[in-house]
Amino acid sequence: MIKNRKTSMRAIAAALTLAAAGAAGLWTWAAVAQTGAALGPFTDAQAQAGKSVYDGKCAVCHDAGGETIKLVGPGFTDRWRSRGTKDLYTRIKTTMPFSNPGSLSDAETTQVVAYILKSNGAKAGPADFTPATAVAINTVIPARQSGLYAGYTSLSGAPQPTGLTFPGTVEKYTPVTEEMLLHAPAQDWLMHYQNYAGWSHSPLKQINTQNVQNLQLRWVWSLDDGERQQITPLVHDGVMFVSTAVNNKVQALNAATGDLIWENSLGPRLENQVNATARTMVLYGNQLFYPASDATLYALDARTGKINWKFKHTDFGNDKIGGLMIADGKLIVGRGVCDEASLEDRCFIAAYDPKDGHQIWKFSTVAYSGEPGGDSWSSMSNGQRAGADAWIAGTTSIPASSNGTTRPRRTKAWTWMKSMRKSWWTADRRSFF
Ligand code: HEC
Repeated sequence: MIKNRKTSMRAIAAALTLAAAGAAGLWTWAAVAQTGAALGPFTDAQAQAGKSVYDGKCAVCHDAGGETIKLVGPGFTDRWRSRGTKDLYTRIKTTMPFSNPGSLSDAETTQVVAYILKSNGAKAGPADFTPATAVAINTVIPARQSGLYAGYTSLSGAPQPTGLTFPGTVEKYTPVTEEMLLHAPAQDWLMHYQNYAGWSHSPLKQINTQNVQNLQLRWVWSLDDGERQQITPLVHDGVMFVSTAVNNKVQALNAATGDLIWENSLGPRLENQVNATARTMVLYGNQLFYPASDATLYALDARTGKINWKFKHTDFGNDKIGGLMIADGKLIVGRGVCDEASLEDRCFIAAYDPKDGHQIWKFSTVAYSGEPGGDSWSSMSNGQRAGADAWIAGTTSIPASSNGTTRPRRTKAWTWMKSMRKSWWTADRRSFF
């Protein structure tokens, strides 16, 4: 059974299986509003034919997400707007596909150029594109509008609404307690790695090496197209929480049937995210915590998707929130993409109160001179000390005590920080976050 809401964009996005979202960045969303640009130097038939060329010979790399160069959207048009269509033709004809340059026929190349121009907002005209066609790209692709992504709409033409785009309520939801986090119920997936030890696999035993071959598809859910998708869905009380990184849309699904329960389209839609920050979510109490790609941290009511609170975790750019976890009742949030050397852009891990989001502590992961561990950077100036990203959720070791109760005595984070004071480089910092 393929589930697809009427308003959802395209059915081709990712199939979501059990607890792993395998969504590929896909090429479909961006068409630019037509504002005063001339007709493009290609026909619709060419652009149509170019889609097959693109899908067959280009998408494998250019839709791969992450750092791969996108051929649609502001990233591409900013580079090519000032150039001509002949340049684009020659670039593709002589250097692409990267793995087999020069293998495209003239016809295939003209078609794929037409497809790329059209996907970036150019309008098909009456004349065929030929290898000799030389038109300034900025005359056929509309100027970028004031906002970074203003004027871009989905190819389906549907506007991208934000807010609670599908209201609903989870009927049966038990608040997630610390006890549940410590002894993760086998049928649930409450945190990034399923449990604090970081197993990353389910403790359920029903599916095993003998019967795994008998698994069958029950349902498929389409995530929105675009960019890299790395979120780990969470599961609690038969509800699966998923999200789409490119536009920060969070959804609660009935895990048994694939039916949508609620959806909050938090936004914004960001293209060319380097890292698809939203990798980890965590459940605690009645809340679902979500790290949006504009570095905003959200506490949603897990039962309704409504926003309880939100704030900017860091003001230094998008795509910067790292991993989330709950430890000792606190929401621990890292920061990623810290390799830009800048005094203000220092990486950190912070703890927040899940109730209202106020900060409890903040720890810089790079030690400056004069600070504990600072001398391990030798005489390097503070401005050059960068990196030490806390980009993924932490793990902890939970020793069982003699009376049967278990507590996270000391998370790896804290062991790590403590040892870091002694010596930065001997600390096993890479195994945490
Ligand atoms: C095997 C991977 C791969 C395939 C397949 C591939 N490309 Fe590329 N493409 C790249 C890489 C890597 C770059 C950047 C490196 C470079 O400049 O050559 C690139 C760059 C480009 C650029 C320049 C982008 C810019 O903004 O400057 C264009 C245009 C392009 N490719 C078009 C195509 C088209 C059209 C196809 C299909 C016919 C295609 N590519 C197939 C890997 C690939």
